[in-house]
Amino acid sequence: MALTPSNDKATLTFTDGTAPLDLPIYKGTVGPDVIDIRALYGKTGKFTYDPGFLSTASCNSTITYIDGDKGELLYRGYPIEQIATRCDYLETCLLLLYGELPTPAQKADFVQRVTHHTMVNEQMQFFMRGFRRDAHPMAVMTGLVGALSAFYPDSMNLNDPWQREVSAIRLIAKMPTLVAMAYKYTVGQPYMYPQNELSYAGNFMRMMFATPCEEYKSNDVLVRAMDRIFILHADHEQNASTSTVRLCASSGTNPFAAIAAGVACLWGPAHGGANEACLNMLYDIQAQGGVAKIGEFIAKVKDKNSNVKLMGFGHRVYKNYDPRAKLMRETCHEVLTELGLHDDPLFKLAMALEKIALEDDYFVSRKLYPNVDYYSGIVQKAIGIPVPLFTAVFALARTVGWIAQLNEMIADPEYKIGRPRQLFVGATAREVKPLSQR
Ligand code: SDX
Repeated sequence: MALTPSNDKATLTFTDGTAPLDLPIYKGTVGPDVIDIRALYGKTGKFTYDPGFLSTASCNSTITYIDGDKGELLYRGYPIEQIATRCDYLETCLLLLYGELPTPAQKADFVQRVTHHTMVNEQMQFFMRGFRRDAHPMAVMTGLVGALSAFYPDSMNLNDPWQREVSAIRLIAKMPTLVAMAYKYTVGQPYMYPQNELSYAGNFMRMMFATPCEEYKSNDVLVRAMDRIFILHADHEQNASTSTVRLCASSGTNPFAAIAAGVACLWGPAHGGANEACLNMLYDIQAQGGVAKIGEFIAKVKDKNSNVKLMGFGHRVYKNYDPRAKLMRETCHEVLTELGLHDDPLFKLAMALEKIALEDDYFVSRKLYPNVDYYSGIVQKAIGIPVPLFTAVFALARTVGWIAQLNEMIADPEYKIGRPRQLFVGATAREVKPLSQR
């Protein structure tokens, strides 16, 4: 979106004789202002320096807003608490992709289009055979999503709005099928084909847990919980994997390759891989004695030399409770109650650990609160999703956010290929000596 400078400006003055420089300030509809530094290098020969992008806005966006201090998350202006309880995932997809909640007719059309693109090419299953059965599902997903580029030559051109639309439908529709295939391959069961009469989340659950040997009976509470998990993970501003997708797409590559890059980035334990890491952390504490061992674990977290983190806690933006974590905890409770697991020891351990951490100055002083990953593993495990598949489910849900952000970038007349610079601190020019003299 083209921006209008505000009446305010930033004036940079230098002590090294560089001429002062006025820089425009832009104001958003809400949230921090930005200082437009695009002229800085041209005018001063200097770069800004911001590894990790703690103070850098990479774009302007209308999709998702986060207020880290308030613990607020809006999808196109709608609070996540309302979206998660009043909409389903495909409505959320339409909202993120097109900016408005759909009418019943718009929703029916979108559901119909997604439903009729859920199958993948039969050749896709032959990629699976190249993997070991114990391959991590995110290794499989990184491969399969990239491989989609080989099957849809009619929707590869990012600069064609119609091809972007077609690839979006294909990706949203096929991710559940691919994630379920990645799971079935690890357990040696046959792939289950999508069933068009099922809901998006219901279809995913059936492809995951049904076998050809008997009718699959779905549980509406679990299906609704799965759908809500998808909603809670759908988009989240300019996080690492979304920034990866934007940067990858800025080269003009195809949409499937750009989303595959997002899958690869999300895998990291500091990002989407935290739900798997969090559950493994809870398993470890449980194995060592459970609640009685929380104090010992917290002591390790505080010991910088231990390199132990409380997984599922902390966030670059949220310095308050992640609103998704609250909704995930409620969903967790609903699922465990439905399954008669309200005494689930892992859930009790997680709640005890959360309570102790939130009262401990180490976490309070650093404003470390539970994030979306803290409870998502427990609820997914209760639903029957195996731990290594948690991040693949996150990637399934985040695909629509990646696509919406990618589309927004491509549609911005000001966008260019992303190409950051550096502060060079290495060797200056020097002579190569012949090997005999080294
Ligand atoms: C997601 O960006 C997004 O929006 C991501 C996401 C999305 O939807 O896309 O929300 C999804 O990735 C959620 C985050 C999941 N990751 C984890 O739960 C892993 C554990 N959390 C940490 O790795 C960490 O909190 C990060 C990576 C999430 C944020 O790291 P930052 O912003 O770079 O903060 P930091 O590492 O500089 O931490 C500040 C201080 C440090 O201590 P000091 O140097 O001040 O002494 O807090 C400490 C950190 O050591 N700290 C933790 C901690 N997280 C931060 N200490 C113990 N346990 C933790 N979890």
